[in-house]
Amino acid sequence: MAKVRKVVFPAAGLGTRFLPATKAQPKEMLPLVDKPLIQYGVEESIHSGIQNIIIVTGRGKSAIEDHFDVSFELEHLLETKGKLDLLKQVRDISDMINVSYVRQKEAMGLGHAVLRARELVGNEPFAVVLSDDVIDAEVPCVRQLLDIHEFYGASVVALMEVPKEQISAYGVVDAEPVEHNGAQGRLYRVRNMVEKPKADEAPSNLAIIGRYILAPEIFQSIEEIPPGAGGEIQLTDALKHLLRSRPIYGLKFEGKRFDAGDKLGFLQATVEFALRRPDLGAAFRDYLRTLLS
Ligand code: G1P
Repeated sequence: MAKVRKVVFPAAGLGTRFLPATKAQPKEMLPLVDKPLIQYGVEESIHSGIQNIIIVTGRGKSAIEDHFDVSFELEHLLETKGKLDLLKQVRDISDMINVSYVRQKEAMGLGHAVLRARELVGNEPFAVVLSDDVIDAEVPCVRQLLDIHEFYGASVVALMEVPKEQISAYGVVDAEPVEHNGAQGRLYRVRNMVEKPKADEAPSNLAIIGRYILAPEIFQSIEEIPPGAGGEIQLTDALKHLLRSRPIYGLKFEGKRFDAGDKLGFLQATVEFALRRPDLGAAFRDYLRTLLS
């Protein structure tokens, strides 16, 4: 079975949920503590064993390209000032990955964005990471999905239970539990799925979260489906189309997910990540205590 070597990051969205911050700056570059959102997803991919990163960008997204490029001026400055720790941080990220970019001229939906990566992906399975979904986990979420992919040789999506009043914001699956490694309750075989259903029409409380391992046949499915929810070409609809000919699994991953594309979710991620930082955590905790007392 082909190994997953590439990960696609759709990053051409307009970031309307985060205006005005995203008027002249890509939402993928909003910092959680001191790292841009997209870097969390890129590091998760690297820690899962994937170094080839394909970013689907659009207009106004050049800051993402600069971020993953070498910055000679900055490196020179840090070197002459002897700031070697910072120099290492800046270098590590451009050293560890091999990035390619492809442009999505119009934002016509997640499925459409993924289709733009077809030439760069080729005929092999690949991962998709939505950088809005920041996942803090002992075993990186992409790695958890890859383990399932390697076992069953099929496409896999990340799943999470969400409350009924939030379910309409997601792709939702109808799925039956599968025993895996002697354990029940985490792995599912997907029977059907629907993008952004009304709460009382949702087939379950299992929402798709932005991590996917996809068979290359998904590209054909994306081409064949009509626009769906919001008039967009939806990846969920393409997965449903793919289900006719191939199995798809869903994994309730272990870890904590933050919806960093939402203002409240972004604040929660910022606070939790800051509290966990060895260099900031203690002082930040003390500060938060003064607010609450
Ligand atoms: C996208 C997908 C949806 C998925 C969600 C996860 O929606 O279309 O199926 O549940 O990401 O974050 P979006 O958040 O772009 O509306």
